[in-house]
Formats: sequence, C-alpha cells, structure tokens
Amino acid sequence: MKAVKKLVAGLGLTVALGLGATSAQASAEGCGTYKTVDGKEAHLACEKAPVDLTNKASIQRGASLFMSYCAGCHSAQYVRYSKMYKDLDIPKELVEKYLMLTTDQVGDHINAGVDPELQKAWFGAQPPDLSLETRLRGNDWVYTYLLAFYEDPSRPWGANNIVMPNVAMPFVLHDMQMNTSKEEYRRNIGDIVNFMAWMAEPQAHQRKIYGFWVILFLLALLIPVYLLNKEFWKDVK
Ligand code: HEC
Repeated sequence: MKAVKKLVAGLGLTVALGLGATSAQASAEGCGTYKTVDGKEAHLACEKAPVDLTNKASIQRGASLFMSYCAGCHSAQYVRYSKMYKDLDIPKELVEKYLMLTTDQVGDHINAGVDPELQKAWFGAQPPDLSLETRLRGNDWVYTYLLAFYEDPSRPWGANNIVMPNVAMPFVLHDMQMNTSKEEYRRNIGDIVNFMAWMAEPQAHQRKIYGFWVILFLLALLIPVYLLNKEFWKDVK
C-alpha cells in the first residue's frame, strides 16, 4: 500500500507542477501607477486579457491585425510566416497576399524591414521585438498597455500611455478606436494579444493536450501497479 501512496503523491505533485507553470507567469508588478485628480498616486490593476489558445478564429484575426498595425515597426524574429499558415490553418495564398507585407519568402521571420537605428532616431526608442513580449510582461500587461493610450498634445506623437508614461510608441490604434464600437475595439485588442500569446508560445496548447494524455496514462498505469503490488505481498503477510 505504501508504494501506491507514494505513486499517488508523486502524481499529485506532477499535476500541481504542470498547472502551476501556466498560471505563474501573471505579471507581479501590476500595470503601473497614475495620479488622481487630487494628486494622489493610484495603482492601476491590469485588465484580464481574453487569451484563449484554442480559439483559432481569434488568433487568425489577431495575426491579420498584428501584421497591419504592428509589424510595420515591430519585428517578431522567432515567428516564420510558414508557421502561421501551417499552425493557424490560414490558407497559404492568404498569408502571402495579406500578411506578408515586408517580404516575399514564406520561410522568413516577421521583420519590420526598417533600420533599428533610424527607428530610434524617429521615435526616441527602438520598437522592441515582440516575439516573446507576452512572456516577458504577461498577457494582461500587454492587453492593458494597448488599452491605456490616450491623447496628449504635449507628447511628440500626440499620445501618452498610463501603463508606460511618456511612451515613445505612437497611438497606432487611434483611428481604429474612433471607427469602432467600444466592444469591437476591445475585442480587436484581445485578438492581437491572443495572437501575441500564441506567438510567444505556439506549442503551449499542444503541450497541454500532451500533458493530459500523459497524466491519463499514468493514472491508468496505477491500476496494474496496484494489483501487482498486492500480488507481490500476498504471500509475505
Ligand atoms: C510607429 C511605430 C510603432 C507601431 C506601428 C507599433 N509600435 Fe509598439 N512600440 C513602438 C516603440 C517606438 C516602442 C518603444 C516604446 C518605449 O520604449 O517608450 C513600442 C513599444 C511597444 C510595447 C512595449 C514593449 C516593452 O515591453 O517595453 C508593446 C507591447 C508594443 N509596442 C506593442 C505594439 C503592438 C501590439 C502594436 C500594434 C497594435 C504596436 N506596438 C505598433 C513603436 C510602434
């Protein structure tokens, strides 16, 4: 019986570790601070990003929005276009026609194709590579950051951000915000973050599926192990 107990404890630990690893990445520092009207410093809580790696339609929409609104400045050096049409079920022709704006090679990585030094001179800061951004900052941080732009005429690009005060990035979704309903705007940003989460860990969803089968296999294994254990000790007692 001892052996079985050990096995069960071991399995429990495996499950706990597996589940812990996915939820541990939530950003610990929150989403910045801001001054209230009476001059007090207030803490901004991150908004929950609607990330769902099983929602392929959302990731596809996010891919398209990302390529139109973000890839002009930001690269995503770990993602190849070929990966997009293979893993996201986007027809190759559509990827070539609508998503590959800066290259004509499907094996290429997403690259803004702009000299980083020039970008630094234009914006005052270099737009960072976004391949692993959601892992670096957390999904909720990126989602809140994208929602936190506001008009500020004192800034060079006429925009500022609550999460990253005096940000060098222009308010690139300003037109979208003007031309869509609030729900649609938030949904679009949610899709972009969902795509970025997929980009940062395209294997995450599959890994969870493997994890499920491995645990199931181990649980199934428990039965013969238990019976065997009983069989071995039968004559000793
Ligand atoms: C016109 C160029 C430009 C476009 C287009 C653009 N960005 Fe940026 N972005 C920047 C610059 C410049 C910075 C650096 C800001 C800073 O350090 O102050 C930045 C910073 C960021 C950061 C913060 C990185 C960090 O951790 O410090 C994120 C996240 C981000 N951009 C996401 C996006 C997304 C998503 C899009 C598309 C919706 C987008 N950007 C479109 C120029 C751009």
